[in-house]
Amino acid sequence: MAGTDAIRADAVSKTFTIGKESFQALGEVSLEIPERTFATFIGPSGCGKSTLLRILADVIAPTSGEVSVFGRSAAQAREERDFGFVFQDPVLLPWRSALANVELPMQLNGIDKAERRARALELLDLVGLQGFEKALPAKLSGGMARRVAIARALTLGPRVLFLDEPFNGLDEIRRQNMNAELQRIWLETRTTTVLVTHNVSEAVFLSDRVFVMGRNPGRIMAQLEIDLPRPRTIETMTSPEFVEYDRELTALLRTAYEDAEP
Ligand SMILES: Nc1ncnc2c1ncn2[C@@H]1O[C@H](COP(=O)(O)OP(=O)(O)O)[C@@H](O)[C@H]1O
Ligand SMILES: [Mg+2]
Repeated sequence: MAGTDAIRADAVSKTFTIGKESFQALGEVSLEIPERTFATFIGPSGCGKSTLLRILADVIAPTSGEVSVFGRSAAQAREERDFGFVFQDPVLLPWRSALANVELPMQLNGIDKAERRARALELLDLVGLQGFEKALPAKLSGGMARRVAIARALTLGPRVLFLDEPFNGLDEIRRQNMNAELQRIWLETRTTTVLVTHNVSEAVFLSDRVFVMGRNPGRIMAQLEIDLPRPRTIETMTSPEFVEYDRELTALLRTAYEDAEP
């Protein structure tokens, strides 16, 4: 697959300093994510997945190293609104309807009312929430709230979508349903996507490329290409090919844990 890289990281590291203590959260991480790829970071908790995602999205700056996004710096890409971000435990404004929550980034960017309403309706439709436009967050299930957060992240037509454990706290079946929805959205939009998870079958189900991370300091220990046809379905998950990828990724992940917990 000859294509442009959407994202490149070159020897990116991060050291957090609190008072006199400093802590290296990320060693030197280098990676490439081709355009229109679904990429995933998986690894033990505390290995720096969120830190790496935040650096790629220019939410925080690396201590050293460089990130380029479609050939520009991450900061430039952010200024040009290349990014959509769904943070861990996404927060919706409780006093705004689902529709008004999705409209918010467009409102902040001065997009006029008619246009942002039309776009928000289209996105709520895309994430399967037609009929819930007027609902307040308190009336939405956990899965529905995640859908609103994904719709909101897509409002400005990002070229890269970052998802930090977006389905945390959902039970297994709801998570599988959300994964199928996310794949459908990805197939419709083909937005380059970077997901953080610690769920092996979620990573296999969704990804083209999985980066297995280890810790102390955070680093990429292995990279696995998932070459399964799409759309992948619930049935795909019981196919021998899927089960083999699941086994392989589990083995790689075990190494990352052993390394961290001697
Ligand atoms: N703002 C911060 N200040 C200090 N330490 C941090 C900060 N953010 C993350 N860390 C530390 O960096 C390490 C990696 O964190 P994180 O990227 O959140 O891991 P993960 O997402 O893989 O669970 C952890 O040890 C965490 O405590
Ligand atoms: Mg995290």
